[in-house]
Amino acid sequence: MKKEIFPPNPKYTEDALIGSMDAYWELQNRAKDDYEGFWREYADSKIDWLSPYDKVLDESEAPFYKWFTNGKMNVANQCIDRHLSTKKNKAAIIFEGDNGDQQILTYRELAYEVNKTANMFKNQFNIKKGDRVVLYMPMIPESAVVMLACAKIGAIHSIVFGGFSAEALRDRIEDAKAKLVVTADGAFRKGKPYMLKPVVDVALSKGCESVNAVCVVERNGEDIHWEAGRDYAYNELIKNESPRCEAEPMDSEDPLFLLYTSGSTGKPKGVQHSSAGYILWAQMTMEWVFDLKDNDTFWCTADVGWITGHTYIVYGPLAAGATTVMFEGVPTFPDAGRCWKMVEEYQINQFYTAPTAIRLLHKMGEDEPSKYDLSSLRILGTVGEPIDPPAWKWYYEAVGNSNCAIVDTWWQTETGGHMISPLPSATPIKPACATFALPGIMAEVIEKDGTPTPIGEKGFLCITKPWPSMIRTIWNDPERFEKSYFGDCKIDGKPVYFSGDGAMIDEDGYITITGRTDDVINVSGHRMGTAEVEEAIKKHDNVASVAVVGKPHEIKGEGIFAYVVLKSTPMEHNDEIANEFETVKEINAIIKNEIGAIALCDSMAFVPDLPKTRSGKIMRRILRSLIKGEKITQDTSTLEDPSIVDVIENILNK
Ligand code: PRX
Repeated sequence: MKKEIFPPNPKYTEDALIGSMDAYWELQNRAKDDYEGFWREYADSKIDWLSPYDKVLDESEAPFYKWFTNGKMNVANQCIDRHLSTKKNKAAIIFEGDNGDQQILTYRELAYEVNKTANMFKNQFNIKKGDRVVLYMPMIPESAVVMLACAKIGAIHSIVFGGFSAEALRDRIEDAKAKLVVTADGAFRKGKPYMLKPVVDVALSKGCESVNAVCVVERNGEDIHWEAGRDYAYNELIKNESPRCEAEPMDSEDPLFLLYTSGSTGKPKGVQHSSAGYILWAQMTMEWVFDLKDNDTFWCTADVGWITGHTYIVYGPLAAGATTVMFEGVPTFPDAGRCWKMVEEYQINQFYTAPTAIRLLHKMGEDEPSKYDLSSLRILGTVGEPIDPPAWKWYYEAVGNSNCAIVDTWWQTETGGHMISPLPSATPIKPACATFALPGIMAEVIEKDGTPTPIGEKGFLCITKPWPSMIRTIWNDPERFEKSYFGDCKIDGKPVYFSGDGAMIDEDGYITITGRTDDVINVSGHRMGTAEVEEAIKKHDNVASVAVVGKPHEIKGEGIFAYVVLKSTPMEHNDEIANEFETVKEINAIIKNEIGAIALCDSMAFVPDLPKTRSGKIMRRILRSLIKGEKITQDTSTLEDPSIVDVIENILNK
């Protein structure tokens, strides 16, 4: 069936940065013809170099690619200082608290806060270039200030999302060997205070030898435990620092940050991003995909704990000299009109969120958008998971008044910035379709041996040429980096970056993402490794084995479902139902403790065994099909016990 096509709004095409498909193809063909020349042009015109680079792309140690080698620059300079001559009094960050607090930081004020914080890190905590600083922070301006302060002095930040547990935080602190942890007492959510510092206390209570100090920002003013000699009050210390700070000259390839993300196996991996390549693409995509104008106000609703928050709340908007909105609360508090009220109040021009939020707002407040003046909106964005056509339609019609382009942006923690997305004033949009690779990005849908997948069929989504903002390595684990991303797909025998996603190209060349091909699930646009959740569940004394899969969920896209085999089955107990119920509670308590509430199982089934091959491998594909209610197409005759499939199906039907 042919999809309906939505052409760009002609009102905006004339003064758009990329205003037609001809302009798009011109850029993309230029990149194809002279890849290094293409990137040189942007690196030269967009980055404020402290000293010039000598090579655009160094492939000598592929897949450990290097960009703009030996160039010197500083990301904080790129995001703040260089704007001061023209934009010093422009709003850089507009903050809205859950409780309605408002704060605006101009570029000049942001420079002042960042410099004081950078000096504090150097003077009080002896943080030097290359040291790791872990942030466990709420959505407050200080989070951006601390990120940029790290960048200013060359420290490598690693943000851990505030929803992760003490165990998960400790794992990340230990892997990164962080010297300093920056946190807040807590923050506000749905009108109530919640706490962060106590989680840091627990994380540090066992191990974490590398941490010398904890710097605590005050946000909700609640009482917290204070460990003299380890804990320091940010708001006090900063008073004594100078607002002048020289930027550390950073090599293009010096790491800017680590961000831990889930893989299909093992522990989360510390994705390492570079300085120059990352910021270049953050800025370019900000400008192109959101067709940024100087007076625009941009709002990305993500949390800074995820890559979307890094690139499109902090680094991209600020590098591009835009005004970025930071929101502490949730879209449904105090009611489902909160976002639309903010769009009206701040005259937001680009609104960027996840399909989960759109589905929730649609369900909870279908008519809410009509109560507000949303006429400032020009571009709507989605990210993190596939958007379904009904959610797309509501977003387009009710929120965008059928006037705004929807940019369905496909990318990943590892890609640093958008890879495949419509350009709002160029691409005729097919709903729920990521459309085309951005200029400079070579995305292909192939088989593992490099053969192009036929039109309309699912293949592996690969990026076949390195790009500036790509992951550089996995912290402490270069082998895992090579194996995870360059181990599966090859073109002419040369490994290419495989995203882990499947995709399909249609007869017009449009790319549709079909979802992960590995054991990663996508819960509300958040990435979760099934292996991590299984490891947590196995810590329950009575669990013999477990397999976790994604189960389609009306709002979250996917929920977490566990097939659990118990050591002593509930059948041996008197009250089977009560016993299962208790076990579910206990298992979820372990998950909350080991990973965090975001990884809780929506539901689980207790089964006598899992479908395994004779060599003991769990056939997850069968388990995935069973939970989706799909027909089993796999050959079950190779299973150790083929009858188990029917047994499980019966249990699920119950
Ligand atoms: O499966 C894809 C999905 O999210 C994964 C990346 O997750 P993460 O690294 O946490 O980054 C999320 C935010 C960039 C991808 O492998 N994904 C991301 N964007 C889309 C998407 N799936 C469908 N459509 C998208 N637009």
